[in-house]
Amino acid sequence: MREVRLSLFGFGNVGRAVARVLLEKELLFREKYGLKFKVVSIADTSAVVWLPEGMALREALMVKENFGRLSSWTNDYEVYNFTPEEAVREIDSDIVVDVTNDKNAQTWHLAALRDGKAVVTSNKPPLAFHYAELTKEAERRDVPYRFEATVMAGTPIITVLQDGLKGDTVERIEAVLNATTTFILSRMEVGLDFEDALREAQKLGIAERDPSGDVLGIDAGYKATILHCLAFYPVTFNDAHAKGIAEITPEEVRRARERGNTIRLVAEVREEEITVEPREVPKKDPLAVESHENAAVIKTDLLGELVIKGAGAGLKETASGVVGDIIKASMKLRES
Ligand SMILES: NC(=O)c1ccc[n+]([C@@H]2O[C@H](COP(=O)([O-])OP(=O)(O)OC[C@H]3O[C@@H](n4cnc5c(N)ncnc54)[C@H](OP(=O)(O)O)[C@@H]3O)[C@@H](O)[C@H]2O)c1
Repeated sequence: MREVRLSLFGFGNVGRAVARVLLEKELLFREKYGLKFKVVSIADTSAVVWLPEGMALREALMVKENFGRLSSWTNDYEVYNFTPEEAVREIDSDIVVDVTNDKNAQTWHLAALRDGKAVVTSNKPPLAFHYAELTKEAERRDVPYRFEATVMAGTPIITVLQDGLKGDTVERIEAVLNATTTFILSRMEVGLDFEDALREAQKLGIAERDPSGDVLGIDAGYKATILHCLAFYPVTFNDAHAKGIAEITPEEVRRARERGNTIRLVAEVREEEITVEPREVPKKDPLAVESHENAAVIKTDLLGELVIKGAGAGLKETASGVVGDIIKASMKLRES
């Protein structure tokens, strides 16, 4: 049995979903992989709670859900106000798990890698702006740097591009990578205008209070940038052309429907070319997704078209990607 120490940063929706999976599947992971996970620290923006012997995850969930902040936790735990970078350096762990929305997390990802710690993340901006630096550092130190949940939640498009298709040359990827815009466009198909559809998405918790990242195509642009880095070579989001759905009118949606089509926010990734824009797609096209589904059509020289379709958001769906990466990183650490 190998014990793996995890340092968890972010205890929001995804962080708590990851904690729940670690609790619920503890026995399975021991039996199936010979891995025993010990969470030695958990951080939110209020505090870093650290116990080298391992934290009680049920209690952590209870504190966060009842009080909203980890700093309310007293008991036997040491509560610190480290910056993430200090915490990464100070706390002995094998894997740093970043499930925060810290846009500048690349600084502490690098600190972790330089310290010989593996990193698993669902946080997009560090990859969309610093892919080359981060992956080079991980390679140099020979430590895992994994980010499956950054694109299409747990649907394993990253693994397909990293580990599959080794002999293929990718020619292009077309994908619907943002579920919030799919929801809004679907509601516009039944007669709502953009503003009303957006308000409904916000009421249901599908869109954030500040929805600009989704509706302006930035979120899809981050994801498309990460796909370009994997399929071709490293670039940054600054090389992407992203246009959102804010200017789509009910009239355009209606006319598309009359033609048997649907409008979706489509990302197209070709060598040196990343475009995100609303496009009309035939109703039967793999990209005509509904609900929280994402889809990608990868075209290669040998295989032709490969379609990957599955959940692109959701808590247990994102935890699927994060926990899968934690397991893969742990197995790699065991080998070395
Ligand atoms: N939700 C999804 O379906 C989904 C899917 C794929 C990827 N993701 C990505 O996964 C990440 C987490 O998403 P989420 O839905 O869980 O967001 P969330 O509910 O807003 O949670 C974010 C968490 O990060 C914490 N945090 C932010 N900056 C921090 C810092 N510097 N140090 C320590 N903690 C920090 C926040 O602390 P407080 O609690 O104190 O605010 C909060 O606990 C995001 O990057 C998101 O884009 C989400």
